Amino acid sequence: MTIPSAPLPTISRLFGAFIVKGPGTDVWSGANWDVRLYRRGAAAFAAGLEVAGGRIGVQRVRLWVPDYVCEDLLELLPGDLTESCFYPVSQDLSPDWSWIKAHHEPFDGLEVFVLVHYFGFPNTAGKASAFCRERGLVLFEDGAHVIRVHQGIGEGDMTFLSPWKLLGLPMGGLLLTPPKRELPVPEVTRVPQLLSFTTAHWLLVRMAQQFCRMLHIPWHAFLGSQTLRARGEIRGPATACWSDPVDRASQHILNTASRDLENVIRLRRRNYESLMSFVSELSFARPLFPTLGEEICPYAFPLLVDAGCGPVAESMNQHGILTSRWPDLPTAVVEAPTEHPVAISLYNKLLLIPVHQSLRDKEMEAIGRFLQSLERTLA
Ligand SMILES: Cc1ncc(COP(=O)(O)O)c(C=O)c1O
Repeated sequence: MTIPSAPLPTISRLFGAFIVKGPGTDVWSGANWDVRLYRRGAAAFAAGLEVAGGRIGVQRVRLWVPDYVCEDLLELLPGDLTESCFYPVSQDLSPDWSWIKAHHEPFDGLEVFVLVHYFGFPNTAGKASAFCRERGLVLFEDGAHVIRVHQGIGEGDMTFLSPWKLLGLPMGGLLLTPPKRELPVPEVTRVPQLLSFTTAHWLLVRMAQQFCRMLHIPWHAFLGSQTLRARGEIRGPATACWSDPVDRASQHILNTASRDLENVIRLRRRNYESLMSFVSELSFARPLFPTLGEEICPYAFPLLVDAGCGPVAESMNQHGILTSRWPDLPTAVVEAPTEHPVAISLYNKLLLIPVHQSLRDKEMEAIGRFLQSLERTLA
């Protein structure tokens, strides 16, 4: 058996690429937001920074980014105009406010504070919003792991989401901005292709995985251990710059998927609760978030393995339970370990166990039982 780390689209979703029309981003807009579609979250972030910079006509931007962040987020930003200040996070992943307040100094340019809602759980948006108002920063919320805004998420000036990650899509990142802004949000103006190479490749791989799943073929056995370790199957869509358009096939897949949001939330919550009942009995590991608040849609089940998550990830992947780790940390953080002890320790301990909507009860039970079987070797 192979338990995939990302959701597998149903056959009807795959055919939606050719039948359904339009991007269908309405479910994300509500009354409060203008929504723009980009290839991925990092592209939506880069487009949003252009808006923020354009608003006051500045060229220099200082980003306040958590030290527990992946390089992917910063990949599409213009390096010559942007400098990053990596603020430390606390054990619960909230910003270390006393450090931030002590280190914040006046800056000649635009300052943007990035607050990440890790794994779908709301971070301290109220505190971030008060800090930014008091000191004149723009608050940008990173909702790459969030399915939609709700209580505690979306209180800042802008928010971005990465529906491709939670809904299992070839591409799709959203920028949410308040309506009636003085400056228009930069639009993707290039005409999209009907079907890009990225989407065609994605469709073929997902069809093959879905086919293996139906025939109970353990397809993880075809992947080398290197690929398994590199989480090859859930890499983000390739983008050279934020304005690369989303092809029409991907827009149609997003449209079909967006109609299923309530169901996805329900299934992910059910899987999270189911895994919690197994994890609570473990002595070698504990959940990072022991309770699942009402509106939360979990991205994964973050499990802290105190002795280091590497061997557990390895043995789960070998067993066909495709589990990921935090992909990487910025070089500046890795090179200054004494300034970023919590981020580095979380990187070493945190395992992301899948709870997505494609997993059924018996697969959740298999994950739980496998973790319990490790108790004998690891406890
Ligand atoms: C917290 C966080 N923010 C942003 C990103 C980048 O999002 P995307 O892959 O949609 O560009 C990632 C990528 O994994 C992430 O983990």
